[in-house]
Amino acid sequence: MKIAIYPGTFDPITNGHLDVVERASELFDEVIIALARNSQKSPLFRESERLELIQASIAECFPQRANIRADAFQGLLVEYAVSRNATAVVRGLRALSDFEYEFQMALMNRKLAPQITTVFLMPHEEYTYLNSTIIRELARYGKDVSDFVPKVVAQALKEKFEVKYH
Ligand code: COA
Repeated sequence: MKIAIYPGTFDPITNGHLDVVERASELFDEVIIALARNSQKSPLFRESERLELIQASIAECFPQRANIRADAFQGLLVEYAVSRNATAVVRGLRALSDFEYEFQMALMNRKLAPQITTVFLMPHEEYTYLNSTIIRELARYGKDVSDFVPKVVAQALKEKFEVKYH
């Protein structure tokens, strides 16, 4: 059983992330989308909200795929991966600008746990320019983001900013 972890902050999950998940689910027996703590970020959505959005996005986008699930963890990614018997960590590479940070993380993770391999997947080029910050920014100014995120996420963003500003 080949298990892969796809970690991230997912604030919120986007179609770009889901494109990576779909590709990974064709390569591995099980893919765990794992909500991680990134100490550099202060997310808009609470951890429980982000996890619910990931779960709802899996149900919306991959109703037929039984090998994708969501989870959250604290602490080091590689320790979590070992605890789940995973052999790989999946990360998306959108552009050259992602490379340096990803390379650094992958090498550190390999130093910490040589048995875990980082696998980079390229999302579809239509998602190259996407990230969660841009999505939050568009939603904050009332723009429809439903071309870029699952319906449940677009709705949650709408509600979040309505509550925040009204
Ligand atoms: N499509 C769209 N957007 C994408 C994307 C894709 N395919 N891939 C990445 N992104 C975006 C994300 O939305 C995010 O955007 P934002 O910064 O605007 O919010 C950004 O690119 C990168 O974020 P993400 O993929 O969520 O990763 P991250 O950098 O927040 O995650 C962790 C890093 C969580 C994996 C890392 O901090 C970690 O492993 N933490 C656990 C602690 C640990 O082990 N630390 C040691 C690491 S060596």
